[in-house]
Amino acid sequence: MKISQRLKAIAHLAENSFRVLDVGSDHGYLPYLLLKNSEVVKVIVADISNESLLKAKGNLETFFDSKTIEERVKFKRADGLKAVRENEVDTVVIAGLGGLLISRILKESEAVRKTVDTFILQPRSNQGSLRRYLMASGFLIEREILARDGKHISEIIVAKNTDQSIKIEDNEIAYELPLKLLDTEDKKLLLEFLNNKKEIEEFVLKEVTESKGTDSIEVIEKMKRLSYIDEMIKMV
Ligand SMILES: C[S@@+](CC[C@H](N)C(=O)[O-])C[C@H]1O[C@@H](n2cnc3c(N)ncnc32)[C@H](O)[C@@H]1O
Repeated sequence: MKISQRLKAIAHLAENSFRVLDVGSDHGYLPYLLLKNSEVVKVIVADISNESLLKAKGNLETFFDSKTIEERVKFKRADGLKAVRENEVDTVVIAGLGGLLISRILKESEAVRKTVDTFILQPRSNQGSLRRYLMASGFLIEREILARDGKHISEIIVAKNTDQSIKIEDNEIAYELPLKLLDTEDKKLLLEFLNNKKEIEEFVLKEVTESKGTDSIEVIEKMKRLSYIDEMIKMV
């Protein structure tokens, strides 16, 4: 079984919790890592798809005896946080889903989410939108972590509940590339991540310049985004 650095990093963040909900578990690799790395953690393996749940069950049964599974694992077919009641888990992991879907899942189960201690979120798209939603909805983003996943670099967001909404500047790129990313220990990975973003931004700027002309609003906007990334690269 080949498990990505991304899932290993997520497991590492969750393995000190006692009760973890894994939303959208699919193959069950995260629960596998949690059971293997910790003697105490209990996991609710949840998925909206029955097929995925059966896959997770099959994989876990290959590696753990029935006593371990009976005592430490529950399988639930459910949409998002509807898999649990209030106060049933300390940590919620939602990994490998789109950022808009993750926001929807959190929004739909307000009462449950208020009783959760830590959220480990790994959006595979719309990361900026998810951060914007979190900050506007009473979450505090505590940590940002980058982890390699094959050819991609994944963004992992660790968030907690707070009483306040945090207002940050209305600058889309600041949500897409928050300054907290600069805390990343692996500077080589961070530079690779930022340079990939820069390359995409340069390409877009070239396209927009060719079609709209150098002094269009879009070009000025794209140039601002590029200089934000340049500044960030200088700060690494
Ligand atoms: C791409 S897999 C991610 C698997 C694993 N979490 C990972 O990060 O490698 C997405 C899984 O999420 C499940 N899923 C999609 N929407 C969901 C929802 N609203 N609630 C629970 N599970 C969902 C899918 O059935 C699928 O098994």
